[in-house]
Amino acid sequence: MGKKVCIIGSGNWGSAIAKIVGDQCAASDEFHTDVHMYVYEEMIKGEKLTEIINTRHENVKYLPGHKLPQNVIAVPDLVEAGKNADIMIFVVPHQFIRGFCEKLKDHVKPDAIGISLIKGMDHTKEGLQLISDVIKNILSIDVSVLMGANIASEVADEKFCETTIGCTVDANGQIFKRLLQTPNFRICVVNDSKTVEICGALKNIVACGAGFVCGLGYGDNTVSAVIRLGLMEMMKFAKAFFPDNPPQTATFLESCGVADLVTTCYGGRNRRVSQAFVTSKKTIEQLEEEMLGGQKLQGPQTAQEVYKVMQTLKINEDEYPLFVSVYNIFFNNTPVKNFIECLQKHPEHM
Ligand SMILES: NC(=O)c1ccc[n+]([C@@H]2O[C@H](COP(=O)([O-])OP(=O)(O)OC[C@H]3O[C@@H](n4cnc5c(N)ncnc54)[C@H](O)[C@@H]3O)[C@@H](O)[C@H]2O)c1
Repeated sequence: MGKKVCIIGSGNWGSAIAKIVGDQCAASDEFHTDVHMYVYEEMIKGEKLTEIINTRHENVKYLPGHKLPQNVIAVPDLVEAGKNADIMIFVVPHQFIRGFCEKLKDHVKPDAIGISLIKGMDHTKEGLQLISDVIKNILSIDVSVLMGANIASEVADEKFCETTIGCTVDANGQIFKRLLQTPNFRICVVNDSKTVEICGALKNIVACGAGFVCGLGYGDNTVSAVIRLGLMEMMKFAKAFFPDNPPQTATFLESCGVADLVTTCYGGRNRRVSQAFVTSKKTIEQLEEEMLGGQKLQGPQTAQEVYKVMQTLKINEDEYPLFVSVYNIFFNNTPVKNFIECLQKHPEHM
């Protein structure tokens, strides 16, 4: 009997990863063939989404046009989906993860291992928490992370890409590599897990900045400046917030770092919606509904969480001009045209 894998989440990325996991589990003795996928139940034209997935093997709402392997079984009950799993893959928008873990608590195998594909952070009154730490602390299991330049639709189309697994236990990183790597989804495992994860969260703020400059009519040179200045703020933030565990510069050169930043700033949803935020004058909620069909945007919320952390720690706003400017545009009605000033006044080096 191989290890049982369960996927917590079934959005765009969750469904793309379910394609890979289903195929790999069907082909390997190391893993149990059946893969449970927790699906937040929704009615689609009078039918339950779980029933559609289990009969037509397609997530018609979040990954239409792609067949899911038949051994991926949609389960609408979170505890039922997770209770016998040896391996848990967490892939939900970050605002839901704490509630999900509280429900799963006491129902998870004590020797289960987890991996988070979630890009975002959690802000509590104690300060900033990585999503992997939220899961680890509530469920008492080891949690690795997977982040990279991985737009879900392209991964589902089996177009070649790279990704990064960050682990704290090397053996677990290798298990996840065997579970998830395919010829077109190439994985590099590193032990600088916190940096891998912080890159995945912070790059969405930078992508909003890229969207703003495109919406304002600037060109590729300006987007590249946003990427470079944003990367400097990401590196500075990682250093400041993990003083006991300083980030390795090489990690920023993995897929989770520069590559994900470039992809997100050119093609990701945060860039596209932020651009439309400038050109359409609609609210983020309206644009999420119209452009993302139920998917959630991560950048504005992450900018807000980073800003709150800066306030808690009494960090001067001038230290992170780009992050603060994105926050002020979304939450303080600062005109978007002012964004260019944060680039003009930005320190050349940090
Ligand atoms: N989509 C991508 O290209 C991509 C790539 C890499 C990483 N990620 C990250 O993966 C994570 C998950 O993203 P995604 O694209 O799979 O999700 P998504 O935004 O496509 O889908 C939303 C998900 O949330 C669920 N949901 C909606 N309302 C809910 C509610 N009220 N309660 C509970 N669940 C609810 C839906 O069922 C669906 O599974 C995010 O952190 C994202 O940043 C996404």
